[in-house]
Amino acid sequence: MCGIVGYTGPRQASRILVEGLKRLEYRGYDSAGIAVRRDEPLGDGEAPLSVIKRIGKIAELRQAVPKDLPGTCGIGHTRWATHGGVTDANAHPHVDGSGRIAIVHNGIIENSAALKEMLEKEGARFASETDSEVIAHLVAYYYDGDLEAALKAALGHLRGTYGIAAIHADEPGRIVGARNGSPLVVGVGDGEMLLASDVTALLAHTASVVYLNDGEVVSMTPAEFRISDGDDRAVDPKIDTITWKLDAIEKEGFSSYMEKEIFEQPESIDRALSGRMNQEYGSAKLGGLNLSKKELHAIERVRVIAAGTSWHAGLVGCQLLESVARLPAQAELASELRYRNPVVEPNSLYLAVSQSGETADTLYAMREIQRRGGSVLGVCNVVGSTIARESDGGVYVHSGPEIAVASTKAFTSQLAAFYLMTLSLARLHDMSHHEGQRFLAELRAIPEAVRASLAQRDAIQAIAKRYARYRDFLFLGRGILYPIALEGALKLKEISYIHAEGYASGEIKHGPIALVSPETPSVFLVSNDHLREKTISNIREIKARGGPVIALAQEGDDEVAGLADEFIPVPTVGSRFQPFVMVPPLQLLSYFCALELGRNVDQPRNLAKSVTVE
Ligand code: F6R
Repeated sequence: MCGIVGYTGPRQASRILVEGLKRLEYRGYDSAGIAVRRDEPLGDGEAPLSVIKRIGKIAELRQAVPKDLPGTCGIGHTRWATHGGVTDANAHPHVDGSGRIAIVHNGIIENSAALKEMLEKEGARFASETDSEVIAHLVAYYYDGDLEAALKAALGHLRGTYGIAAIHADEPGRIVGARNGSPLVVGVGDGEMLLASDVTALLAHTASVVYLNDGEVVSMTPAEFRISDGDDRAVDPKIDTITWKLDAIEKEGFSSYMEKEIFEQPESIDRALSGRMNQEYGSAKLGGLNLSKKELHAIERVRVIAAGTSWHAGLVGCQLLESVARLPAQAELASELRYRNPVVEPNSLYLAVSQSGETADTLYAMREIQRRGGSVLGVCNVVGSTIARESDGGVYVHSGPEIAVASTKAFTSQLAAFYLMTLSLARLHDMSHHEGQRFLAELRAIPEAVRASLAQRDAIQAIAKRYARYRDFLFLGRGILYPIALEGALKLKEISYIHAEGYASGEIKHGPIALVSPETPSVFLVSNDHLREKTISNIREIKARGGPVIALAQEGDDEVAGLADEFIPVPTVGSRFQPFVMVPPLQLLSYFCALELGRNVDQPRNLAKSVTVE
């Protein structure tokens, strides 16, 4: 979704802003722009702020920005359209009528129509169709020589969500920012300050950051920053250190971030597991949960709230928690839970699962549960993200920055967190010490098994070449592989735009089998347990109707290999661990189909990396 970057310091701002926006590209956007305060003296007729905006890619903006654009303080933005079409005029920054104030905004201003009407009566002339532009005019309306005071006065009228950064031509070196429901992070440099919606835009310049909380306003100059809360009280800032390294957000020789992230999974899963497995006790320890043994014992059921791929990880996790830890568990779509007046039962463990930790649906559902007295633990990847900070404890999955829009390595790291959680809860109930040790041994072997599953790369690419031009796919699995079928279908549709449906394979005869024809391939995930035979029967049903079958099954499964049109062998692991080895080949299948069709795999159309609006 939209991204913000701001810079004030001794260096040329435009370069840093454009480079920061490039780092934010992965979040999804359709236009971008910067506003830089021109250093004095101004030539005749020169505008005090240089504002340059372009629809399309950052490369287009870069071309439009003069190499020697003067100015050492400015703000930039990548826009993902919500109010108003994708046009240069609707791109941010927006300026007030005098051209002396520029703002960028993430989020949605719900009462923008009423504010616009009021401001137009006061003489404001609007240049865009966006909700955000009202902020520039409102700040101008209140401006009386102090940008911070004017922004604060304006905030009092805004309903909705925002991350805002603003500059004024009359206040050299000052950037003012405000946050309510849309992240903002201050980057504390040496003689320079930055502001961004995402730490990836700051990493090249500083590792010292301060996350703003909702209701806070920051005012910064190159030398200092101060934060105040909604009641105008000074806030003592907590400076965090980012541990992500710059090379973690580079492609490092891969042709895309998605490819890099798929192939990183052996290491990222290893990181998620590392230091958390206790061989001696045959158990796992997730320190961040902040729960004593007694509190863990008291848990009677688990509820997962999440969206998209994270919800799929939750579905796998819940099957495990129920079958292994013997706890009733359910994964719910966050966007549904919030609005259906949920009953929050005592002794329930709520888990908000989110790679970005910023997904609005998940965040709001979490707050709804908390409002009703439930406590929610976060399972997040991004350290310092809103869900991580507002949850009552939780675990980081440590997959490292995930830049491609389609989630891959974060998914398998979320799975790893669920396996650890399952083990630690199971060991408090029925699982014996010996079984716990066996579970751990199997888990420990997963990174290598994932590496082996990725060795099918070339074979999968060849299959993708043969199948990428089919228009519809079915993805079918049973038991713990059913959520993996959902995930396989989601991955294919989001990056290749091929229509794909994920189903429990037992369900196909209840409707979807009507879709089966020689034009509709079915991707089967065949488990190596008691459900294998049933799945093989389903394959036969599809074959009998002329449907092409791509089957993933354990290496050496000659029966499945003989039945299927295409066979993708996966390494041998225990049946409950098969999600780990089935998912990478599915990610590769989607990836290669998308490449075959010439899609932008890292930034698929219409999608954003972190969905900060409902
Ligand atoms: C799909 C994908 C999305 C996200 C969903 C939730 O590849 O990435 O479905 O999983 O938007 O995002 P997070 O996990 O950041 O809450």
